Amino acid sequence: MWSHGCVGAFETELKDVAVQVAGAAATLVRQAREAMLTGQSVQVDTKSTDTDVVTAVDRASERLVRERLAELRPGEHVLGEEEGGSAGEGVTWVVDPIDGTVNFLYGAPAFVVSVAAQVDGVSVAGAVVEPVDGRVWTAARGEGAWLDGRRLHVSAAQRLDLTLVATGFGYAAERRARQARAVAELLGRVRDIRRPGAASLDLCAVAAGWTDAYVEHGLHRWDWAAGALIAAEAGAVVSLPGEDTALGTDATFAAAPGIAAPLHAALVECGFKDV
Ligand code: IPD
Ligand code: CA
Repeated sequence: MWSHGCVGAFETELKDVAVQVAGAAATLVRQAREAMLTGQSVQVDTKSTDTDVVTAVDRASERLVRERLAELRPGEHVLGEEEGGSAGEGVTWVVDPIDGTVNFLYGAPAFVVSVAAQVDGVSVAGAVVEPVDGRVWTAARGEGAWLDGRRLHVSAAQRLDLTLVATGFGYAAERRARQARAVAELLGRVRDIRRPGAASLDLCAVAAGWTDAYVEHGLHRWDWAAGALIAAEAGAVVSLPGEDTALGTDATFAAAPGIAAPLHAALVECGFKDV
């Protein structure tokens, strides 16, 4: 069975598996990027809109993760962005084979492989691996969040007007326009806005104090499963889609505790609920 007696040992074991499989997929993705940058073509298809893309590399990365999980954790459930699947009893692995696919397609380095282990829909371990920069972000529930062996802590931000907020936009044009209007309202109240283009990395950035907060609507489970645990284990106030109706039905919110309440109030005032 999937539970162990020793506190933290179960989560740590799952985290080590997440690091291993995400690392293998990150190597595959990095090599594919190098081939792409030297002129090899990559097959690109579209999903929900013409701007929502999936490449052959996303699919190959997910295949590799599934193969490795089948070897290391046979019989456990896998939910992945490209091949689907569903959660089940015991451990479910939640996989984004490339988060930040648009960056990947443009040759920009801000994309990751994200692998999390969930039990009853709750993340208990996860790894986010950056193929280009080689950074490995990890967390295990109750065991803290780490970047390449360094313990992570959120920022000490206290003032809303000095708060650096990351966000992202969905793929549907009409919704993006509403999201942009809310961001425009917020812009005058905070230090600045960031939109790097990979949700899991946005959550890791909050964990490291590289930003003070992150908010986005419409994420899928694979976008947040590892990153939200990393942010929470670094001390962030985190709410997941469906948990905070004041910000709408599908908001993901992560913030340093010192500015979480005033930022949350500002988001509501700026109309984030209705995007
Ligand atoms: C996307 C990225 C992006 C976010 C989108 C996600 P993908 O994931 O995380 O930053 O704004 O909501 O769908 O498509 O690159 O895996
Ligand atoms: Ca993806």
